[in-house]
Formats: sequence, structure tokens, C-alpha cells
Amino acid sequence: MQKIEIFDTTLRDGEQSAGVNLNTIEKLEIAKQLERLGVDVIEAGFPAASPGDLDAVKQIANTVKNSSVTGLARSNKKDIDAAWEALKGSEEPRIHVFIATSPIHREYKLKMSKEEVVERAVESVKYAKQNFAKVQFSAEDACRTELDFLARVAEAAIDAGATVINIPDTVGYITPREIKEIFQYLTQNVRNIDKAILSTHCHDDLGMATANSLAAIEGGAGQVEGTINGIGERAGNVALEEVAVALYTRNDFYKATTGLKLNEIKRTSNLISKLTGMIVPANKAVVGDNAFAHESGIHQDGVLKEKTTYEIITPELIGLNANKLVMGKHSGRHAFKSKAAELGFELTEEKLNDAFKTFKELADRKKEITDEDLFSILADKQTQA
Ligand code: KIV
Ligand code: ZN
Repeated sequence: MQKIEIFDTTLRDGEQSAGVNLNTIEKLEIAKQLERLGVDVIEAGFPAASPGDLDAVKQIANTVKNSSVTGLARSNKKDIDAAWEALKGSEEPRIHVFIATSPIHREYKLKMSKEEVVERAVESVKYAKQNFAKVQFSAEDACRTELDFLARVAEAAIDAGATVINIPDTVGYITPREIKEIFQYLTQNVRNIDKAILSTHCHDDLGMATANSLAAIEGGAGQVEGTINGIGERAGNVALEEVAVALYTRNDFYKATTGLKLNEIKRTSNLISKLTGMIVPANKAVVGDNAFAHESGIHQDGVLKEKTTYEIITPELIGLNANKLVMGKHSGRHAFKSKAAELGFELTEEKLNDAFKTFKELADRKKEITDEDLFSILADKQTQA
């Protein structure tokens, strides 16, 4: 079974979400929870961005012991020096250097030729390698880069000492079939690829980040980068919990696993939502409030008879205690009876039918019926002669 490395960038790319600004204490709390979750690498920030960021990365690097800690650096000495200053105290100093490789970025942003980009990538990896044992190199906007050039940059970076080659879909543009082909191409055409791990880093602009990350694994990626709850620049990064739970649930298909403790997912998601102020949509896969909520009568009846009729993941898997039967106008008699028993009521068939009728009338007027509403209906019927 292949083990996929999980690289969490909630504290770097995730913190780049509009409106999010975490202080050092909050970052430390998140880093410790990511460690409990079992991520392999925590990208704690961008040390050259500000003294505050450098300090946060340093504190995380000096605290976290069971996950590797890394920091981002552009391909220049000043950024790499700042990263070393922040990370030298970590158990296994690791850096993440990047430069853009796509024609659009080369022409408009960097104003550099292909040769200059390769030269800069090699220089920065070699410079980083003087201190860091593990050097990850990212080809920013890789998925819009000419394939042969991408392979050339990757090969040169590995020769210079890079241990991970990251292939970001920086603008969330790629499709699953294309990204699988990119990873297959690199696996087959980069001469020294066996000396490095290929990594995927997908953004969600077209809502394809999870599908793309899984397709990259099919193509040969050994590491997935993303964030918890999928927070990040613009539409966000891939949601790591979705990738991990998909690999677990469809293990028959992917034949790959992660080292994550899946039952820490919900706690991690809640903490990050609370500290970033980014609310998780109720219908979000895996961690949304409705992810295990069954409202329609047919579904509720099915789940009560046999959970797997409508549930492919259990709430317990991600650290939740039980699934939720949401009582509303679509709920059936079976769910109503079960809910009544859960609330401690044992009514005669006649009283139960009566209570069910009152419940349905109320449900026509009110979207969600709370336990308090049910309690009052049931108590009322119980005391009636
Ligand atoms: O999306 C991206 O290209 C990035 C790189 C800096 C890795 O976040
Ligand atoms: Zn990114």
C-alpha cells in the first residue's frame, strides 16, 4: 500500500485567505493540532514576509516534534536566510523554495527567459542545500508550463539537491485527466525522478481541487499539499480532509493511504474555523454540519434499518459521536418514533400517530424542528387522556 505524504499549508497558503490574520498564539495552537492530526509536514509560514511571520515559524519549529516544519522562500538568498533563521531549531530543517515557470509568469511577472529561470532555480536549491537537509522546490504555475520545460526544471532542481518537486496548479486551471498526464509525463521523462518525491498542490478555482489531487496521485504524486477546510488564496486550496477520507473510503480504487488520524479531523476543522473566522458551509464534504444529516423520510428510514444504505463514511471516522437525524417535513414515521425513544418517550401507537400528525403540521411552518419542539409535542400527547 502506497503511503501519501500530507503537507499542510493552512498556516501559509491558508492564511493567505482574504480577511484571515492569525497571531502567533493562534498559529501555535493550530500547529499543535495539526501535529495531533498526524500531518507529515506543516508549512508554518513565509519567514521573509514579516518579522511576525518569522517569529511564528520559529516558535512552531521549536515546539512541534512529530511533524516536520517548513517555511516558504522565494528563490533568493535573503528569503532563504530568513527561512534558516526561523527553522534552524527544528528537528529536521526543511525549506520550500519556489520560482514561477509558466510562459505567462516568465514574461509578465519575472521578465526572465527559460534559461534564467533554470539558473535561478538551481542556484537557490544549491544555496538552500548548504543548510537544509530537505529542500522542496516548487515550479509556480507548473500546470500552465510547457511540459518539456517543466521536466527540465525538475531535473535540474533534483540535480542541485531538491528532495521534493512540487507541481502547483497555482490558479486552479487544470482538469483531472490533464494533471494525471502531467505526473505520468514527469515520472517517465525526468531522468533522476527516483531521487525525489513528486508533490501536488491544487487550488480550487474551478471546484476541481480534490478530483485533481486524487488524479495526480494516480499519475504518480507521492505527496499532497493542501489546507484544512480548503481555506486559501481566492477559492482556496484542496481540502486535505477530503483527500484523506476519499483515499480511505475508496482504498479499493486508489490503493494508497495517509498517516492522518482521521478521528482528529472534525476537531481540527472546528479549531481552524473558529480561529480564522472562516465558517465551514453546512453542505461541505466531510466536515460540514450536514455531512451526516439525513432529512428525507426515505433516507432516514434506510439509515435506521442499515446505515450503509445512505452513508459511505461514518461520523465516528472523523471524530464525531453520531449521525444526525434532522427532523423536518420530509421525515418519516420511523425516524419520528426513533427520535421519540431517544428523547425518552414510549407512547402508545395511537398517541404516537397523533404526535406525528402534530409534528408534520409544525414542520410545514418551520424548516427544522428542534429537540425542544419535539419534546413539547411528545410531552403534550403523553399527558393527554
Ligand atoms: O499556489 C502556488 O503556486 C503556491 C506556491 C508558492 C507553492 O502556493
Ligand atoms: Zn498555493
